[in-house]
Amino acid sequence: MANIVIVGTQWGDEGKGKVVDLLAEFADIVVRFHGGNNAGHTMVVNGEQFISHLIPSGILQKKTCLIGNGTVIDPEVLIEELDYLKSRGIDVGLDKLMISEKAHIIMPYHKQIDIAREKMKGDKKIGTTGRGIGPSYEDKATRRGIRFVDLIDPEVFREKVKTILEEKNFYLKEYLSSNPLDLDDIIDKYSEYAEILAPFVTNISLIISRAIKEGKQILFEGAQGTHLDVDHGTYPYVTSSNTVAGNACAGAGIGPKEITGVIGIVKAYTTRVGQGPFPSELFDETGDILQKKGAEFGATTGRRRRCGWLDTVILRNSVRLNGLSGLAITKLDVLGGQKFLKICTGYEYDGKIINDFPANLNILSACKPVYETIPGWPEDISNIRKLEDLPQNTKNYLDRIEELAETPIQIISLGPAREETIILSNPFS
Ligand code: IMP
Repeated sequence: MANIVIVGTQWGDEGKGKVVDLLAEFADIVVRFHGGNNAGHTMVVNGEQFISHLIPSGILQKKTCLIGNGTVIDPEVLIEELDYLKSRGIDVGLDKLMISEKAHIIMPYHKQIDIAREKMKGDKKIGTTGRGIGPSYEDKATRRGIRFVDLIDPEVFREKVKTILEEKNFYLKEYLSSNPLDLDDIIDKYSEYAEILAPFVTNISLIISRAIKEGKQILFEGAQGTHLDVDHGTYPYVTSSNTVAGNACAGAGIGPKEITGVIGIVKAYTTRVGQGPFPSELFDETGDILQKKGAEFGATTGRRRRCGWLDTVILRNSVRLNGLSGLAITKLDVLGGQKFLKICTGYEYDGKIINDFPANLNILSACKPVYETIPGWPEDISNIRKLEDLPQNTKNYLDRIEELAETPIQIISLGPAREETIILSNPFS
């Protein structure tokens, strides 16, 4: 039996949603273990596009989807997502969705603080998604957060919100020059959410543990990417949770020995949204071509993604930080038509070559990418379904990625649709 974690190896938007949707066919349960509706997972099935922010991407395969304790949930967005799926013919019943009683709730003040802080920071902003993710994790760490167990207990909920709102309103008004919030408005709104969501709230850790004992297969769905990890990413230009595979355990309530494999999703080039250093970023026509051809706009905020060549310093960092057992290369088709491709193999800093990702952002910002140039391919490869049918130059590109990452490629994605994929080795078999 296999229990597999899927993580992004770059700065998010690697195409995890598609790979999770694809592999969910072989799993019984799909679990989100961190982050919130800052994520946007795009799936294309039978020509129809679906975007989810909170509900695991396994929902289209009609699998049981769990939202773990490591997440932060905006109940309004979750209810909207349930309605959206229903309108698209997918009724998410109590057997299909369960939410951890320990998951934290995103409150209106979290969103307002996120947006007002970014505005106040001006040029120094992080470029957050403005969804209240950071302020919510902040309250979790300082033990002032509100969890699903609190939301579904009206007395506890009112008491907790009342206490914290005094402080939040002071901060909003006096420091951020923003509007204070009304307690009764919040209670009224959130009571409605509680009524809708209470039946889905349960002990996720227990559900997973029972399923593993019964020999079921679990897929753990990471969000964002390794270099947005709050510890290991380009801090402070990161999200507020641990995005690395190890957090699948803490964020879902299981022990590390249950995990049997970790697949890192690698976009065939690199993108990033929001601020922060990006050594292989392209500011020329090639960057524009990748952005347009790859439709590189954020699924959550619609922001234009910054684009650059594949960076294997980052990739090797991800292999180590996540203990990757295999890679899934996505959006390989987007590189078609480039005469030459570049792969960043190291950085030059102060006259020396660096092969490891530096923690110091001043150093990282001053790093110049060292490139290896290899021939591209003119063909459209999106209709190819066998490795041996790929152009030789495409195979050379893949071989070089495997060599530099010292990790086998298990999946190749050649387009957004489920079927536009070559599975070389199924992690669940
Ligand atoms: P936050 O997660 O909204 O606090 O944003 C912090 C940083 O993470 C910003 O640079 C965001 O653009 C980035 N970010 C958050 N979620 C995603 C995602 O799903 N894909 C790509 N970037 C993300």
